[in-house]
Amino acid sequence: MKKLLTTRIEDLLIPVLKTISPGGAEGGRPQVQFTRDHRLGDLQTNAAMTQAKALGKNPRELAAQIIEALGPGGRFPAPLESAEAAGPGFINFRLTPQAALELLAGAVEEGDGREGPVILIDYSSPNIAKRMHIGHLRSTILGDSLKRIFRYLGFRVIGDNHLGDWGTQFGKLITAYRLWLDEGAYRENPIEELERLYVKFEKESGKSEGLLEEARRELKKLQDGDPENRALWKQYVDLSLEEYDKIYRRLGVSFDTCRGESYYHDRMSGVVKELTEKGLARQSEGALVVFFDDEKLHPCLVQKNDGAYLYATSDLACLQSREEEYAPERIIYVTDDRQIPHFQQVFRIAALLGWKGRPVHVPFGVMKFMEGHFSSRLGNVIYLSRLLDEAEKRAYQIVDEKNPALGEDEKKEVARAVGLGAVKYFDLSQNRSSDIIFDWDKVLSFDGNTAPYLQYVYARIASLLRKAGDGPENPPTVPPEGPEEGEKKLIHLMLQFPQAVFQGAESYRPNLISDYLFDLSQAFNYFYNAFPILKALGEQRDFRLFLCRQTGRIIKTGLNLLGIETLERM
Ligand code: ARG
Repeated sequence: MKKLLTTRIEDLLIPVLKTISPGGAEGGRPQVQFTRDHRLGDLQTNAAMTQAKALGKNPRELAAQIIEALGPGGRFPAPLESAEAAGPGFINFRLTPQAALELLAGAVEEGDGREGPVILIDYSSPNIAKRMHIGHLRSTILGDSLKRIFRYLGFRVIGDNHLGDWGTQFGKLITAYRLWLDEGAYRENPIEELERLYVKFEKESGKSEGLLEEARRELKKLQDGDPENRALWKQYVDLSLEEYDKIYRRLGVSFDTCRGESYYHDRMSGVVKELTEKGLARQSEGALVVFFDDEKLHPCLVQKNDGAYLYATSDLACLQSREEEYAPERIIYVTDDRQIPHFQQVFRIAALLGWKGRPVHVPFGVMKFMEGHFSSRLGNVIYLSRLLDEAEKRAYQIVDEKNPALGEDEKKEVARAVGLGAVKYFDLSQNRSSDIIFDWDKVLSFDGNTAPYLQYVYARIASLLRKAGDGPENPPTVPPEGPEEGEKKLIHLMLQFPQAVFQGAESYRPNLISDYLFDLSQAFNYFYNAFPILKALGEQRDFRLFLCRQTGRIIKTGLNLLGIETLERM
């Protein structure tokens, strides 16, 4: 990845600060940020203030001293045009307009994601033999977006769908399957039938203890490799995946590997052995448990008294395997926040075992529905396929209303991209830590911070560029009278795209990217309404078309990082 502009300016400041305080930069590495208001300048640092504190000097005076050392006699190094002291000791920097334009040309630059350090992302990861529901949406969408973002930044990203395909439920399912299967229903809709069988088992087993025992026997057989049980289990896995793939294809989400918990089964005994030998796990009421010094962490069960392993054991085995296979720079787990304690335990145990690596849990809140908005009509569980159908249907109505002249096929295509985009954006644009309430009117609105709004701005730019015959590819020269206020604001925002992507990645918060895209689009709309573009002349026309083209590029690239398509017309 290219160096961020803020880092470049920080690098210019470091030697300057060293000359002022030869002991080194006393206040630590200088921090440069974009200003909130472009009228103050493009970038800003508080370095003089932190230094002044460390040196016991006056911050305003120190700021003046830094400015003089950085740009003796007002001649500043590229890409800076000027710097001035402000307020209690800030330094505001301005870029030369031409340098800003050139930086803009390189603001969108994608890594190819083949050579960088490895990041493994564990997302979606549904439990098989059940249909995917709304709860899986967030992990799938958020994980996919993080994958795109890190890949963009040049990491080699491995997306793994860590299926819940192992555990006690399969003993139950096999038992129920043998007793009660409705073959017709299974042929018709296998997952629905498996769900029915599972629910029936839970109900019946309450009445007869024998059933549970039977299920335990079947589970043991499955785990010991009994061919018949293995074959049944494999069938459940395959049928589930077939079903999930339909949804993934629709969402435009893909994985590099799809290993379930079962993949790690053979490692689990080794992990338990290591835990015991290192004295970390001990017997407690017949089970094996890891106790922690930290009171905030509950003891973690790793093996039950009947020998069965648990969710934590499987995640430890999985973590060990991933470390061995990929030596990743980090492993990111995307699940809802109810799993926070689980991952705290697993990560702590891995650290106690001395395993290297950097596991990170990225938790999110639940998605709820507005009362009467969806759930009542479609039953209690909201299946993903139905949600997506509904989104497309509603988007179609809107498109049909807004643009009746479009052909039928195009209307459908637009409705698909808008409907899916709206659902994804609604999820990704919110602070992931909060619970979110799904509200169709907000999701599909064309004038808030929504995907349809951004897609619409993009389509408007595409249409403008078509009319212009596309406009200049390379940065033109800045018109002699210099950029106008509204143009400066737009440029200032465009320069911040790499920063927004970087910050979104660092905090695992794609909403920093969506917020950015929304601000950019608003600045663009202002610019678009305030200035003639196609009717402008000569250099000015080229300059404005260039701003349009680059804004379009940023919106397209940014939406793509969120897994959202753009349309050339809508
Ligand atoms: N299958 C789990 C669930 O549906 C999520 C798995 C997340 N990944 C992991 N390595 N534990 O809740």
